[in-house]
Parts: sequence; structure tokens; C-alpha cells
Amino acid sequence: MGDVHIHAFTADDADDVRASLEVHNAAAAVDAPWRWPELLASYTALLRHGWDGEPERPFLATVGGRVVGAASLELTERDNTHLAWLGLTVLPECRRRGYGTALFEAMAAEAARSGRRSLGADGWDNEAVTAFARKVGLECRSQEVQRRQHLAELEPGRVQRLYDEAAAASPDYELVRVAGRTPAAMVGAMVELVRAINDAPTDELDVEDEVSTPERLAAYEEGMLARGGRLYRLVARHRKTGDLAGHTVVLVDGARPEVGHQHDTAVERAHRGHRLGLRLKAGMLLWLARAEPQVRLLDTWNAASNDHMISVNDALGYRVVGRKLQFQKALV
Ligand SMILES: CC(C)(COP(=O)(O)OP(=O)(O)OC[C@H]1O[C@@H](n2cnc3c(N)ncnc32)[C@H](O)[C@@H]1OP(=O)(O)O)[C@@H](O)C(=O)NCCC(=O)NCCS
Repeated sequence: MGDVHIHAFTADDADDVRASLEVHNAAAAVDAPWRWPELLASYTALLRHGWDGEPERPFLATVGGRVVGAASLELTERDNTHLAWLGLTVLPECRRRGYGTALFEAMAAEAARSGRRSLGADGWDNEAVTAFARKVGLECRSQEVQRRQHLAELEPGRVQRLYDEAAAASPDYELVRVAGRTPAAMVGAMVELVRAINDAPTDELDVEDEVSTPERLAAYEEGMLARGGRLYRLVARHRKTGDLAGHTVVLVDGARPEVGHQHDTAVERAHRGHRLGLRLKAGMLLWLARAEPQVRLLDTWNAASNDHMISVNDALGYRVVGRKLQFQKALV
């Protein structure tokens, strides 16, 4: 193996951004061929905004001036300040030469320098990932499953029927459509509602609940819109009290408008047991059929242990396409 040089870059370093994107897309073509290549504009926006306003720090690994891999370090400040979540990708043709280990060690050292005491990482469930994780001492703590729904495969009328059944079980609730940013008058209640996602299982991961604030909600919405997406949020509201009881969010891909990405779906504990999860997701499909009729498929992610959400997804015809393993280790 030649000497590996690892350097940080930013969203303004156009050549490095492009090189990093090429590493990710080349790896995805081999490791997860059902995914679409990431596009430059949305990747750049992700580097600038992160998921919700805390962008990761990206790095490139080169050998003799040639790019061999990319990495990233997510150091959240709002919560989980004990943790550094790392991304690590080696070009398929450059694997098994020690570059992954070199990147891992550099990221672990950087995380420790930043005062973090725990390191997390994830990867598709395959032999390279499990063997590599074992070698560097990462323990598997959770599994996240990617499911995909092909709308054309749903028998006609099925979504409406499921919606009607769920609506009959939740007569005390009405649905409110929010396209784009959350209106100012709703922000306070929405910040509370978004917190409900912390009830989703995290299995053996040593992670804290995510802090929800108006600033974070705005940063999430701004980040998604900056990626060129269109946001749809369906909210269940308790008719009598006006309390927000649950919500579901879909981002329609701006560059590939036939694709939708399912983001959070959550129902407040006090409002569970009324089939609101199914009503929200079926209601979202009915809305999208009118607002974005070109959407052909939706992707969603759940912890493998999230039985309730998975049974809703099964009813709507989602099928498993991939599984990611989530790892963690203590930094000493
Ligand atoms: C996982 C990954 C980063 C490993 O990169 P790499 O440069 O091949 O890793 P290294 O060469 O440093 O390998 C270190 C050790 O991991 C193990 N390993 C890596 N790939 C392996 C494979 N395909 N089969 C069996 N063992 C493997 C071996 O023990 C290897 O040591 P050895 O070559 O001396 O036997 C690379 O496969 C990759 O980019 N995968 C896709 C992205 C990803 O999932 N990243 C998250 C990882 S937690």
C-alpha cells in the first residue's frame, strides 16, 4: 500500500466535492445497486446544510495524488455530544489495501481530539462490512431496513380502502396538509410533535434522544428545500383540543420527481391506538396522487425491530430492498 494522505475539504472545494461524490456513487453501484447515483447539486447542498443544519465534516483519501476513498465525521452539538458518527467509503477497485483502516484510524483520532467518547458507523449488510467492523472493533448494535413501495403494484382502490378503514377508527382526528415549510403559527406545536420520533427503537445503540427546537425544524426544512426537494407533511389533529397527534413527511426528489423519500412518521403516545399511523401514510399517498402524480415509488427506512411501523408499511405493499448494520464502539 502506498502512503495514504487524508485531507478535509468543504462544500466550496468543487474538485474535492466531485471526487467524493464519485467515490460514493462508484461504491453504491457495487454495494447497493438499487440506489440511484447521488447528483452533484443535492450532494453539495447536503455538504452545506447537513440533514438539519449540522453538516458533517468531509474528508478525502489519496495515494500518489489519486483518490482512493472518502470519509466523513458527524459531530452533533444539539444532543449526542458523546458521539461521533463516521462515514467511510473506499473505491471498490481500491479495497483490501488497508485504506479503509487508515481512514478509520484517522477519523477515530479526529473524533477523540474533538472530545467524543463513542464512535458510530453504518454499512450495508455484507461480508466486507462485517469483517471490516470486526477488525476495527466496531460492534453491531442495530439494524436499519430499507423498504421500497412501487405505487403501480398497488391494486386499484387499496389505498383509499385502507384510508377509509383507518379514518373510521379515528373519528376524533382530522388531517391537515402542510406543503413546504411549517407555517409560523404551527411551529411551536410541530416542534413538540417531532419529538415523538424519539420513541422509535434504537436497540443497543448508545444514543440520546434528539433535541427538537424551532431552529432545528427550520434547518431541516431549509436543508431539504436546498437539495431541490419538495416537502409534504400530513398532520393529524385532535378535533376537540386542537392538539397535534401525529405526522408523516415525504420529500419528493426534485431531480427525479418519480421518487419520494419517506422521512419521519410518528404518533404522540397519548394518541396511539387509533390507526393514525396507517391513516397518515395512506392519506399521504392520496395527497401525492393529486399533487405529484408522477411519483412512482417511495423509499422508507425503519429499525428492523420497529414492528408497528413495519406492519403499516407491509399493509401498503412496501418490500425490503436492503439492510444496513449500525455499529458503535467506545473511544479510549
Ligand atoms: C468496509 C470498507 C470501508 C473496507 O475498506 P478496505 O479499504 O477494503 O479495508 P482494509 O483494506 O483496511 O481492510 C481491513 C480488514 O477488513 C477485513 N475485510 C475488508 N474487506 C473484506 C472482505 N471483502 N472480505 C473479508 N474481509 C474483509 C479484513 O480483515 C481486512 O484486513 P486484511 O485485508 O488484512 O485481511 C469497504 O469495503 C467499503 O468502502 N465498503 C462500502 C462502504 C461501507 O460500508 N462503509 C462502512 C464500513 S463500517
